[in-house]
Amino acid sequence: MSTLRRVWRLERAGSLERLKLQVESLPEPAPGAARVRVEAIGVNFADIFACLGLYSATPAGAFVPGLEVAGVIDAFGPGTEAQTDFRVGDRVVGLTRFGGYATSVNVGIEYLHRIPDRWSAAQAAAWPVQGLTAWYALLPLGALEAGKIVLVQSAAGGVGLQALEMIEACRARVVAVVGNDDKRRFLIEQRAIDPALVLVRDPRRFGAQLDDALRAAAVDGFDCVLDAVLGGSFRPAFDRLRPQGRYVLFGAAEFMPHSSRPNYLALAWRYLRRPRLDPLAMISANRGVLGFNLIWLWEHAERLRSAYLELERLLRRPPHVGALLPFDRAPEALRLLQSGATVGKVVLEAS
Ligand SMILES: NC(=O)c1ccc[n+]([C@@H]2O[C@H](COP(=O)([O-])OP(=O)(O)OC[C@H]3O[C@@H](n4cnc5c(N)ncnc54)[C@H](OP(=O)(O)O)[C@@H]3O)[C@@H](O)[C@H]2O)c1
Repeated sequence: MSTLRRVWRLERAGSLERLKLQVESLPEPAPGAARVRVEAIGVNFADIFACLGLYSATPAGAFVPGLEVAGVIDAFGPGTEAQTDFRVGDRVVGLTRFGGYATSVNVGIEYLHRIPDRWSAAQAAAWPVQGLTAWYALLPLGALEAGKIVLVQSAAGGVGLQALEMIEACRARVVAVVGNDDKRRFLIEQRAIDPALVLVRDPRRFGAQLDDALRAAAVDGFDCVLDAVLGGSFRPAFDRLRPQGRYVLFGAAEFMPHSSRPNYLALAWRYLRRPRLDPLAMISANRGVLGFNLIWLWEHAERLRSAYLELERLLRRPPHVGALLPFDRAPEALRLLQSGATVGKVVLEAS
């Protein structure tokens, strides 16, 4: 039997104003899939880029945004229950390659994972995308180890806060960069980071700010940089990597338009001014840049189970939900995240 659901859909990418709330029926899950009654949906920066038509992985034509949900399994596709440990009634998080902005979704069982005990649905929906991003950036790519020092851009954001937890769990050290004083205060008060190691990014003197922080930490450079901002802060941070240092690049928040639709002229200007590196200089300086897009994991679902085990090993507390909005206010949630002012995760509550 099909089930009725509500979804946020765009007929085509290009503007946040194209998001429309619709009621439709969801077909029965196919073999290998489960139906999840959604309780909470994680809002990601990528959702905004997708709606604006600036994210290459976005489906052509009409699409429902959303990369992650948390909820309860309420049905399985034919023959599926016999192939899985999941049962109807289990609380799960699910990765969705788009389609998550819905009150009910069908998800392949390989993309489901049980919600850790005592977590709310909102905390669970705040976990997979940003947790996997922070983990992949810090461990497989960043080669994080005890004693190393990591520069984390947007450290009070969704990915940033989860990265801070993992750095602490690995007994490594951090210099945190944020965009405003409120976020700095949050990190000092709520995450007990040494005030000398929390910087409010000032594009005019970012290099000098980093030097002050390195002096305060009594080190001569960073072992790893996590950066999804790009733009003017890239070069000063790259130049302060130690030999064997790894610059992990996974986003370009500076390209985020601050209106409902992109200003293509402004984007082209930013694109032309994007940082460039000389590969020959990288050899002599013994520093590297690594880039990734997590959507790649979608094609390698067999790796998810071990990745989630790693996330659980590194967990110290549930993700911080900074804003919880009802499902009907999805466009407002996107605009809030787009503003760059949020702390932690923005989550939609579906029931
Ligand atoms: N490659 C991947 O697979 C992957 C996966 C997930 C996320 N990401 C990227 O990781 C970053 C963090 O994602 P998130 O979902 O956790 O978001 P978030 O960090 O909670 O929010 C984005 C942050 O970007 C910073 N920012 C810098 N310039 C900005 C601008 N011009 N407009 C708006 N914000 C700006 C703001 O923090 P500050 O001002 O404090 O720096 C803002 O809070 C994003 O860039 C996202 O695209 C990449």
